[in-house]
Amino acid sequence: MREAKRRASDKKLIPLGSTECMANLNRALEVLVDEGVGPLLGQSALYASERLQHWVNRLAYSNSSYGHQIMAGLVDRPYYAYCIHEAAKLGEILGYDAVSVLEFGVGDGTGLENIEMHVEEIEDLFDVEVEIYGFDTGEGPPGPRGV
Ligand SMILES: C[S@@+](CC[C@H](N)C(=O)[O-])C[C@H]1O[C@@H](n2cnc3c(N)ncnc32)[C@H](O)[C@@H]1O
Repeated sequence: MREAKRRASDKKLIPLGSTECMANLNRALEVLVDEGVGPLLGQSALYASERLQHWVNRLAYSNSSYGHQIMAGLVDRPYYAYCIHEAAKLGEILGYDAVSVLEFGVGDGTGLENIEMHVEEIEDLFDVEVEIYGFDTGEGPPGPRGV
């Protein structure tokens, strides 16, 4: 037991996000996919490997800027984040005090919450305020047309 503990503590610590760390994680990912971890988790092998790759990327980018995390698709709704990030960046370049983000059709507000989360991060990156506006008719999605 003591021997096992000693051997464990002798192990070299690989810094998180380092090239070696990522190579190890990618190797582990390949093994898991080869071993058929998907069906084991009750998911298709493709879905399982995509989720694992996502987590590998998250680790790889954990020390990266929010902009890089957006481009790697690691934030929730990266398509929202990208637009807000670019608008704030341009606003700063043009010397604007503020830019506005508008969502037409907010529904239950899930998208608005996501926008708020991105804005919190992005306002730290650029010298510009991001104002959020949401609209909704309150009538729900329109029915299908032409059917
Ligand atoms: C699918 S939900 C929105 C979900 C939300 N965007 C999100 O990501 O969480 C669509 C919403 O659009 C609204 N809507 C439909 N037509 C609209 C219009 N012409 N102007 C504003 N809101 C509209 C509906 O009332 C509905 O609440």
